[in-house]
Amino acid sequence: MKWQVGILTLSDKGARGEREDISGKLIHEIIEKIDGEVKHYDVIPDQRSLIEKTLIRYVDENKLDLVVTTGGTGLAKRDVTPEATLAVIDKEIPGMAEEMRRVSREKTKHAMLSRAVVGARGNCIIINLPGSPKAVRENLEAVIDVVPHALEILQGKMGEHPKDFK
Ligand code: MTE
Repeated sequence: MKWQVGILTLSDKGARGEREDISGKLIHEIIEKIDGEVKHYDVIPDQRSLIEKTLIRYVDENKLDLVVTTGGTGLAKRDVTPEATLAVIDKEIPGMAEEMRRVSREKTKHAMLSRAVVGARGNCIIINLPGSPKAVRENLEAVIDVVPHALEILQGKMGEHPKDFK
């Protein structure tokens, strides 16, 4: 079965219909590489309680395997995606967030300004990405190959490491 995926774009302008969500579309494309199927997609404003509610709905009701957010990871007053994510996950996966920043740092110094969090709630992995399409590609491509194995471990679908595990 394909991985069931949710894409959540955090953008005040996007939610008002004033900006096309190129980043969300790009996530959709990249997710296909791991045989992901996008089941839910929303563009909502940068409101912490709304972000938390949507993440909880995606995981607890919609039973998604993977949720990828874009936007709201920086330092502006309205950037609250990491706080909302931390409030709903039970485990952080710091290595994945670190890897996104490490790879991104080779492209731009501004990579250090992303406060993106990666974590697990129940059987679902939640990945925060920055908002720009360029940043979405550079960050998500840094970790996407590891996601299937991470999900298999999280969901108890794998007793041992696969033989070709590197
Ligand atoms: N990471 C990569 N790979 N490429 C980028 O262009 N932009 C940075 C950073 N991470 C960027 C990146 C910038 S300019 C900011 S402010 C932060 O992500 C946070 O972005 P956000 O506020 O859109 O979430």
